[in-house]
Amino acid sequence: MDNQIELNIEKIVDGHHKVTYRGIKMIKNPFDYLLYQMIINEVKPDLIVEIGTNHGGTALYMSDMLDLIGKGEIHTIDVTEYPMDERVINNKRIKRFLGGYQSYDLKNCEGFETILVIDDGSHLYEHTLEILHKFKDIVTTNSYFIVEDGALIHIGLTQDYGGGPVRAIEEFLTTNDNYIIDRKWCDFFGKNATFNTNGFLKKVK
Ligand SMILES: C[S@@+](CC[C@H](N)C(=O)[O-])C[C@H]1O[C@@H](n2cnc3c(N)ncnc32)[C@H](O)[C@@H]1O
Repeated sequence: MDNQIELNIEKIVDGHHKVTYRGIKMIKNPFDYLLYQMIINEVKPDLIVEIGTNHGGTALYMSDMLDLIGKGEIHTIDVTEYPMDERVINNKRIKRFLGGYQSYDLKNCEGFETILVIDDGSHLYEHTLEILHKFKDIVTTNSYFIVEDGALIHIGLTQDYGGGPVRAIEEFLTTNDNYIIDRKWCDFFGKNATFNTNGFLKKVK
């Protein structure tokens, strides 16, 4: 019997591009898929801003999580209109924005008590840093700014992304001491055993 374990990042990257939620493409690695559920339950956000909708699988997943806690809305932003399932389009908790993070008006966040932000957009260093600066003030204290896909540093793609999220996070934190990297989530399954390398930023003040 073959009882060897083979676990490598390339295979996980492959697999995470094939993940679906209720049949809808959801680009999420299994570790992060689970961590999101725990974070949503802990924070109980009234608003989740997701930059990077793609086919909307994660938005649908998060809307189901919000159903379970009985409140909350998702603003999901993209630049491209991907084929979209009716369950995402007509979801009462999901509002879609198609002008990219650049044209999302922060006034849309007014009136929400607890706000969580997820950057799962282009992952380019310049965009990630710009997103961190644009959205940093709307994340509420004790909630999170989740910066996805710093793990591209481990698959040799850092240069293509100008240093990517890891570089942007490092730079951002030098001037924003109201955020810390929450190792509780980054290292939950082992040191940075997540695609969000150093990317679970907790707003502490
Ligand atoms: C990794 S996918 C998002 C995956 C999705 N969050 C999920 O979990 O299934 C990245 C998305 O970011 C979008 N994107 C690229 N540039 C963007 C921008 N300036 N603003 C918002 N979204 C952007 C792409 O079109 C793409 O759909």
